Amino acid sequence: MSDLEIVRSISELRAAITGWRRDGQTVALVPTMGALHDAHMALMHEARSRADRVVATIFVNPTQFAADEDLDSYPRHEAADIEKLQTDGVDLLFAPEASEVYPDGFATTITVTGVSEGLCGDHRPGHFAGVATVVTKLLLQALPDIALFGEKDYQQLQVIHRLSRDLNIPVEILGVPTVREPDGLAMSSRNLHLSKAERDVAPQMYRTLMDVAARLRNGIGSEAACAAGRVQLAENGFSPVEYLEVRDAETLAQPLSGHSRRVLSAAWLGETRLIDSIPLP
Ligand code: PAF
Repeated sequence: MSDLEIVRSISELRAAITGWRRDGQTVALVPTMGALHDAHMALMHEARSRADRVVATIFVNPTQFAADEDLDSYPRHEAADIEKLQTDGVDLLFAPEASEVYPDGFATTITVTGVSEGLCGDHRPGHFAGVATVVTKLLLQALPDIALFGEKDYQQLQVIHRLSRDLNIPVEILGVPTVREPDGLAMSSRNLHLSKAERDVAPQMYRTLMDVAARLRNGIGSEAACAAGRVQLAENGFSPVEYLEVRDAETLAQPLSGHSRRVLSAAWLGETRLIDSIPLP
């Protein structure tokens, strides 16, 4: 159990971090939207192993949700989240109100071209601009030594790598491998929305990605392997299947031979949109 300090304003966040820096301590930042689960706690543990101080943020960022998306129903469990952060020895929680992040007159949007396009970018217009804007703000507000993000949101991670390089933000961005339930389902706050029947089917997304990887290993071409994967998802009740594709692991463009690759998918189970991806050796 730690003495978790909870702050709601940017000035308090900066004051705490400035104090630590004055004492020569390093700082890791873990941005989240709350509803914390084991995958978030894996980020906190990794952060703890890499810096003297760990700062978590909880902010359900409205600008990354389209009007017809699940902003209102996004799970919010602040009291339980605080308990988890305390138990895990996180030093500080920054949990601002929307008006602190987006005060009246706010008019700036960070748009990352290329890597934001295609995949989730095609199906969630404006989503990555919202993510890029809030993450840029959080990085500049905290100016940590390192910021950690899960590889589960793989396209988001590549967008954040790109913006931090392009804007010369002096923060190391670290992707942490996806944490899975024992049956393979990638941990996600949205899994809470799955019915019992949907939860039983949900691990099929990971199995399908593994099957695509196996087909590729057996010499089947990526078009055919992905087409078979999309059919497999549909047969298991995923509808619609938004995409299942092999991409360059860094640029997310069509893969070039000799580059590392990743297979990525997004599909709906009932009212819940699931995404997952795995690296290809
Ligand atoms: O991955 C998330 O939880 C969010 O997209 C992030 C990075 C905290 C930005 O709101």
